[in-house]
Amino acid sequence: MSKTYITTPIYYVNDRPHVGHAYTTVAADVLSRWYKQKGEKVFFLTGTDEHGAKISAAAAAAGKSEKEFVDEKTQSFKDVWQKLNIEYNNFLRTTDPTHIAAVQTAIQHLKDKELIYKGQYEGLYCQGCEQYKTKDDLIDGKCPEHQIEPQLMKEESYFFKLSQFEKQLKEKIESDELEIEPIERKNEVSSFINKGLKDISISRKTVSWGISLPFDKNYSLYVWVDAFLNYLTGLGWDGQAGKTPEFFPPDIQLMSKDILRVHATIWPGLLLALELPLPKKLFVHGYFTINSQKMSKSLGNVIWPEDLVEKFGVDGARYLLLSSLTYGQDGDISWEKLTEKYNADLANNLGNLVSRVIKLNENIKAKIGREKPKIKNLEKLVDEDKSSSSPFAIARLFEEIKLKEILDKIWEQVAWANKYIEEKKLWRLVKNNPKEGKKVLIELLSLISGVGQALAPFMPETSMKIKEILEKGETSPLFPRVS
Ligand code: MSP
Repeated sequence: MSKTYITTPIYYVNDRPHVGHAYTTVAADVLSRWYKQKGEKVFFLTGTDEHGAKISAAAAAAGKSEKEFVDEKTQSFKDVWQKLNIEYNNFLRTTDPTHIAAVQTAIQHLKDKELIYKGQYEGLYCQGCEQYKTKDDLIDGKCPEHQIEPQLMKEESYFFKLSQFEKQLKEKIESDELEIEPIERKNEVSSFINKGLKDISISRKTVSWGISLPFDKNYSLYVWVDAFLNYLTGLGWDGQAGKTPEFFPPDIQLMSKDILRVHATIWPGLLLALELPLPKKLFVHGYFTINSQKMSKSLGNVIWPEDLVEKFGVDGARYLLLSSLTYGQDGDISWEKLTEKYNADLANNLGNLVSRVIKLNENIKAKIGREKPKIKNLEKLVDEDKSSSSPFAIARLFEEIKLKEILDKIWEQVAWANKYIEEKKLWRLVKNNPKEGKKVLIELLSLISGVGQALAPFMPETSMKIKEILEKGETSPLFPRVS
């Protein structure tokens, strides 16, 4: 039995989760369910990134202590993940004492190996990103992501010798030993590394909300170093170099482009320094905008995932999120577009197909037999032989993490079935030629059953409901229309 380790980034808790966070987490959940369904041992890790200046400032603005603030926000992430039916194996908080202890052990080891040294740091820093910036990264002097001018940071600091790993990283990325997808993202990272990797400052004198350096309590650890180690501590790692926890390294690490560069440099650099294997694949999905604008609280255009669940139901929300981003591309959403898509794809296409077929079958009582009928034009969606290495289209698309493309494929079948009913004038056929009508109904029931199975990782409740409807021969509305 092979293993699959899937991670999401751990999210900053300066606010509750929005649709961007929900997208990554639902995508990871779908992949995790798919690999489980294939019979693999899966570990799916998510969590929250709770230290650093940005969180500290958000707590102060809310008039709360940091601890009280992060506890409250973290709970809001857990609540939303529950509403979205996310089945993670562990939810890691960077304020967990076991995480903190392991991080300190690891950092001490790097210091002992002389991979950490003291120097003077001077450079630009964006608190919104919690990342170092070069002049080339800025547009009109501002961080393009946060629209703020980065601060000039000048302090005595501890440095991690990242430059020492430049050659190894370059080779591993170029040879795809550390795969970065899509290819455009890999190319961006390669050209960044080709310009040369500098050592990075890994300490903060002025930030008290963080893990203190075990060898100098006057400093806290740079929040990204703290955060990256979550991918290890989330598996129970205790901070020992060279000690690979079960499931490590990650097979798929999901994220969007905003945090790829650090994931492709600092993170593998730390792993090489800790004598641990590198992740197999960093997968970068697209970025959501809302009505063509960046999502932001100040613009008041944020779409909150719990509102999606409220309006469209849990599976409606999961479907809409996943079908909004094409592989490698950004996507624009709005309440209008989402409502339209829900009504077209779910209420009309899928919902109607199921209720029509069940109603037309009321008197005929056709049943799917053991022998699956061969349906013209129908591509087999799921592989029923779990032990085989799935030759079907969907399995291939899963390997490539083309989730929207899988949904499109499933909906092609749904649309084809609706057309088939029209072409056959099935409502007439069942009356005038019940024998022929029965044959068509068996084909359609079998198609619906395939669709239901293919949807299981994406829409687990709907998949179960479809199975029940087919078993009982009674329909209940799957997706009521919304306005
Ligand atoms: N805390 C860091 C990650 C540390 S991981 C060791 C962080 N947190 S974050 O809260 O800003 O989350 C960033 C991630 O959330 C993105 O990489 C992406 O997965 C998801 N998204 C946040 N906004 C998004 C969109 N607008 N669109 C799609 N996903 C985005 O960075």
